[in-house]
Amino acid sequence: MLKNDLILRAAKGEAVERTPVWLMRQAGRILPEYRALRATLSGFKELVETPELAAEVTIQPVDYLDVDAAIIFSDILVIPEAMGLTYEMVEKKGPWFPETIKSKNDIEKLKIAEPSDLQYTLDAIKITKQRLNGRVPIIGFAGAPWTIFSYMIEGSGSKTFSKARKMLYTEPAMAEMLLEKITLSTISYLKGQVEAGADMVQIFDSWAGVLPADHYSAFSMKYIARIVDELKELVPVTVFAKGAFFALKDMRELNCRTVGLDWNMDITEAKKVLPNKTLQGNLDPCLLYADDEIIKNQTHKMLSQFEGHSHIANLGHGVYPDTDPEKVKVFIESVKAFKNSNPTH
Ligand code: CP3
Repeated sequence: MLKNDLILRAAKGEAVERTPVWLMRQAGRILPEYRALRATLSGFKELVETPELAAEVTIQPVDYLDVDAAIIFSDILVIPEAMGLTYEMVEKKGPWFPETIKSKNDIEKLKIAEPSDLQYTLDAIKITKQRLNGRVPIIGFAGAPWTIFSYMIEGSGSKTFSKARKMLYTEPAMAEMLLEKITLSTISYLKGQVEAGADMVQIFDSWAGVLPADHYSAFSMKYIARIVDELKELVPVTVFAKGAFFALKDMRELNCRTVGLDWNMDITEAKKVLPNKTLQGNLDPCLLYADDEIIKNQTHKMLSQFEGHSHIANLGHGVYPDTDPEKVKVFIESVKAFKNSNPTH
């Protein structure tokens, strides 16, 4: 039994006593306790692939920040690896793939991942579930097919993702073949996470914003819709498509419960076009560099703007690595202190 199920009720559009709050990328990055553990290991992957340790890092923000949900410590890039394309996490630089996808033959060689290929994350969820003992729900996650596709083609992050975008024009059938394999892998992985104990799941489409609207619809939303349809009866699903303000109205057709907003998105507009969805977000992560008073005021201003609508408080993207955890606490406390005079529908 969950002792705190605020986020699940908000995700389902039910009334809540106060707005639940968590932060994207809360596990790792900012906490000294994370860095201390991380420093004893060979690298990021060892942490991700050791379920006991991944569980520990997942629970740290619940202990130290008092958030209303735990997000399982892993990475979106475990999917390409499970399909046969290994990644490396280069210190201070980020992900890097020694091999990338260049041809149809490369795609044919990839397998469709099965849950057992990612047993370490599923075990981390099981251990986390036991240790949390119902304190807060666990959020499982995966990258959206388009975002995973981008990494598999580019081999790393990119300013423009022009190789990935180019393929949509020059080799659309090949692109679809890869997106299809990623989609099937992701569906089975997310189902595995739910079976292991994830109470809700989020799909991160971090590079949604680089696509024109028609390509977004054909090469990203279409595959997200399939994933959501496979999960919707099992747990509430959140779709966060960073930069996809142009696609907000189409999200109405998705069978997800919650839509994440980044800090460029207009709250009033989002409430209007998505009347039946819970909205998540959407403060600028840079607000957490400001004085406490400013953090508090801006947080309360955001909460007022969401009033009358189901809402999960969060930033508009992941918390930045050099953010002071004390500032994160100010944000969380400000959400909890806000008097919600207008219960959600
Ligand atoms: O939210 C959480 O705290 C759970 C853990 C989580 C990580 N990555 C751990 C991580 C989640 C949800 C992710 C998702 C992820 N990973 C995304 C989507 C969300 C987003 O921010 O848009 C993306 C694009 C990635 C790919 C990735 N992984 C990058 C670009 C990097 C390097 C930069 C950085 O620090 O984020 C990573 C590494 C990574 N993933 C770290 C952590 C804690 C830092 C690695 C370290 O400890 O050395």
